[in-house]
Amino acid sequence: MSREVEFFEVKGYPLMIFRDEGKERIWLAGCPHKRRPLSNSQVSGKVIRCPFHGAEFDLSSGRLVKPPDSKTPCPNDCSLVEVKLVNGEPLFSREPFVPSLPRKE
Ligand code: FES
Repeated sequence: MSREVEFFEVKGYPLMIFRDEGKERIWLAGCPHKRRPLSNSQVSGKVIRCPFHGAEFDLSSGRLVKPPDSKTPCPNDCSLVEVKLVNGEPLFSREPFVPSLPRKE
């Protein structure tokens, strides 16, 4: 079984490509919970775990498999944003966002 996740950037958006047995899915590398980067996430099999509040997503479907451990609930559409690259341009399955780190106060 061969699976891998690779991170890259297109047009200012951090993306991640998940390869699983010859199939590829591309996702925005951002957590929909609080729009944090997923670039330093732990990946186990098909599941990526957000390092901020522990939400887990299935990299083959984009679905949330474990909600965040946070008082702030995930927004209604708490799934990964899918990306298709067409002539090098990213097309997003819904409104994308640029993930960012929390501000220091
Ligand atoms: S930002 Fe990812 S779980 Fe909260």
